[in-house]
Amino acid sequence: MHFESLPSSLSRVRADCIAIGVHDDEAFSPLVLELDKALGGKLKALKTRGDLPTRAGESLLLLDLPGARTPRIVVVGLGAAANFSRRGWRKAVSSALGVVLRTLSARLALAIEPPAELAERPYYLGRAIAELTHSALYRTNDLKTARKPRAPALAAVLAGSAGAGVAALRRGFDHGSAVAGGMDLLRNLGNLPGNICTPRYLAAQAKQLGSTYRSLKVKVLDEAAIRRQGMGCLLAVSAGSAQPPRFIAIEHRGGKAGAAPVVLVGKGVTFDTGGISLKDPGAMDEMKYDMCGAGSVLAAMQVVAELRLPINVVGLVAAVENMPGSRATRPGDIVTSAAGLSVEILNTDAEGRLILCDALHYARRYKPAAVIDIATLTGACVIALGHHITGIMGNDDALAQELVQAGNRADDRGWQLPLTDEYAEQLKSNFADMANIGGRDGGVITAGAFLGKFTKGLSWAHMDIAGTAWVSGAQKGGTGRPLPLLADFLIQRAGRGA
Ligand code: BES
Ligand code: MN
Ligand code: ZN
Repeated sequence: MHFESLPSSLSRVRADCIAIGVHDDEAFSPLVLELDKALGGKLKALKTRGDLPTRAGESLLLLDLPGARTPRIVVVGLGAAANFSRRGWRKAVSSALGVVLRTLSARLALAIEPPAELAERPYYLGRAIAELTHSALYRTNDLKTARKPRAPALAAVLAGSAGAGVAALRRGFDHGSAVAGGMDLLRNLGNLPGNICTPRYLAAQAKQLGSTYRSLKVKVLDEAAIRRQGMGCLLAVSAGSAQPPRFIAIEHRGGKAGAAPVVLVGKGVTFDTGGISLKDPGAMDEMKYDMCGAGSVLAAMQVVAELRLPINVVGLVAAVENMPGSRATRPGDIVTSAAGLSVEILNTDAEGRLILCDALHYARRYKPAAVIDIATLTGACVIALGHHITGIMGNDDALAQELVQAGNRADDRGWQLPLTDEYAEQLKSNFADMANIGGRDGGVITAGAFLGKFTKGLSWAHMDIAGTAWVSGAQKGGTGRPLPLLADFLIQRAGRGA
């Protein structure tokens, strides 16, 4: 992907495709007017006749218009001007890219003007363009044997961008490109099946990052080393699997030597059968995505290294497979966590919190400025927030809100849920310090409350990405979320944001 900005004049732009947007209730923008003049008013005539798409979601490809220097013009409808939002703009750009990529265009002049709130923030405009174009070029890493069409090289030229904003726009584009690269990694790892993407595979990926980026130091603990750490909860999850667990620590020392790091902790259940509390077969294949928290951490470390952010960041990944083997943990088994607290495992399908509690305890050794765990933790989160928004909670409202704001800026939203003391009471056990489940009610929050017992004294936030990390159905696949949110948070913390 290559990017340029262009002051104005669409009629003289060198490109093989121009994408414009048209509102149904508003005159053409100055950019489009200038183009239309060169076309002898053709666009205006088509609009008057009702032949131009103007409703959101509609698009039309016009070829070889007389007077045009560009062989292709893609028109996308933007709907009513008053309702035009960032989301509408993103959808319009994506749908234009969908049309463009079905043609042989290699150089696109993008002239779909963003709403003011984005136009006024050129850094985020640049990020959005990079992320949208990059993700339009993404090819699923499937294992189909037919030869794949090669992704075209696409250069995007943003029309109407000039003046003071261009430097910020370009910086946003560069950051967005790094984020998009991380999203590719995250999506690819998620899409890989459980028989390929095992705990050892994740560890190999981490090592790979370590050899690609000089700033990254990677350490991998094998099962014996994990046992020496006393991670009894993590081992209880892994017990039923023939795949050995791995615990991964990646350090990026980009900031001052003694500065407290941000620690990211990822749930890396490479396949979640539920264990002895076996899941229904329905959509069990999708539990290959149960390592997307881990993927988010690896991807975030890649972005931090790629951008050489001047901040210290540590990525921790607990990687296990949750299987119902003959050595598997039984409901009712009691184990001891690395923190020393005993846990009664009443449901082996509530395994994410078990591996995270040991990883969160491990985070303490870094004396972190903040700890953020990322996990496909509960079906209850999907019930609460659907597939649109990531659940965020923790013991530090300021940190949680910092993440919410990062998500708002990056168009990768999260919403804070209330993690008050009452929820922890649902985790009472007759036989251990706590049970690993708290009943159906408020399930997304009781999972957070469980983690909260291991993060006392830390500034900690938990992100439940069960609804946002992948989509089901015909378009089944990883989404790359919540990397835009996480990257924005880290870029801001490093003082490199807009
Ligand atoms: N990985 C699942 C959560 C999940 C389920 C994410 C469906 C996305 C879609 C997690 O390990 C799990 O099984 N959670 C249980 C917890 C329950 C047993 C308390 C759940 O949500 O049902
Ligand atoms: Mn589970
Ligand atoms: Zn799980």
